[in-house]
Amino acid sequence: MDKTIIITGGAGFIGSHVVRLFATKYPEYRILNLDGLTYAGNLENLKDLEGLPNYTFIKGDIVEEDFINKLFAEQQPDAVIHLAAESHVDRSILDPLSFINTNIIGTVNLLNACRSIWKDNFDGKLFYHISTDEVYGSLGEEGLFVETTAYDPRSPYSASKASSDHLVRAYHHTYKLPVVLTNCSNNYGPNQFPEKLIPLAINNIKKMKAVPIYGKGENVRDWLYVGDHAEAIDRVFHKGSNGETYNIGGNNEWMNIDLIRLMCKFMDEKLDRSPGTSEGLIEFVKDRAGHDLRYAIDAGKIKEDLGWEPTVTFEEGLARTVDWYLSNQEWLENVLSGDYSKYYDQQYKDR
Ligand code: NAD
Ligand code: TYD
Repeated sequence: MDKTIIITGGAGFIGSHVVRLFATKYPEYRILNLDGLTYAGNLENLKDLEGLPNYTFIKGDIVEEDFINKLFAEQQPDAVIHLAAESHVDRSILDPLSFINTNIIGTVNLLNACRSIWKDNFDGKLFYHISTDEVYGSLGEEGLFVETTAYDPRSPYSASKASSDHLVRAYHHTYKLPVVLTNCSNNYGPNQFPEKLIPLAINNIKKMKAVPIYGKGENVRDWLYVGDHAEAIDRVFHKGSNGETYNIGGNNEWMNIDLIRLMCKFMDEKLDRSPGTSEGLIEFVKDRAGHDLRYAIDAGKIKEDLGWEPTVTFEEGLARTVDWYLSNQEWLENVLSGDYSKYYDQQYKDR
């Protein structure tokens, strides 16, 4: 095998798409999927890869320093693609500490483990840190985030991701560790845990349950199909320049209420309901604390430098996503039957 790559968080939403892409496209790479299988990690996401000779799953927590050091010493990875994180803003408001532990301490453990096995020989080595546009804070009605926008994180989630980004850059600057970073906008697609807006709405609409919209639904997000994000990660991993940051986005901004209305229309057609049925499920609820108004990305640098741009239209991506959730009922019921039902009750009970 050419290279050993540890992909962290590979059993999660985006990670599972990245693991599949790398393990199938590059049979010459040995892909180690390191994941702690929190509530968000699900090996069912990767059932189709079982038995692939270049793919191995390793269960482990990136916060456990001794375990990480031992694993890296044994496996001698050439590269790390780091996606493992606590990723949901609402949960970070309820329980910030787990975000500090995984997103900050976990990242530092991985950086230290790379330093200790690579020493000063960085030939062919890379630490690729996956981050979010939320580190830049909130935009008003105008403007776009560029790679040089000053950091201004405003939720415990985005503050913990911002901190991890700073640490990755500090290790590059101080110890010359070879790194790349990408900051991406909101992803959607198959396998996303149904606590995030789009899969939560699909599930509730399907079950004729209320669809909770925070505040007036005027917040804006830029949505990117997860397969396009995985392709961007492939491009940056292979062609990105050492020390650089690239913003990744979908050029696809939607106000939450418009997005949910579109989905309702779409679901009425899919489920043979009379027009307007699903829209009747929309319920405006108490706003998220500190709710960022708008995120939007200028993805010009990755297009100009690396030739990447999104390929899946929103219409096509939403259709694929809705079809996937409707035909993977068992997956959905399995993830909903665990810890999530407790979280849902806590999150929405007083809203
Ligand atoms: P996810 O919550 O679906 O998956 C996270 C994965 O990390 C899970 O498989 C979980 O088991 C694992 N994990 C969590 N804590 C761990 C720990 N301590 N040790 C080992 N494994 C652990 O997240 P996602 O939406 O796929 O996001 C992946 C990455 O992409 C994150 O770093 C996130 O910040 C970033 N990101 C996400 C989005 C988005 O819209 N979802 C957008 C931009 C960036
Ligand atoms: P989310 O999917 O949690 O992603 P993020 O907060 O990282 O952008 O939320 C997307 C948007 O949808 C955000 O503005 C919050 C809003 N939202 C709701 O209105 N209702 C909900 O039940 C959820 C989960 C989110």
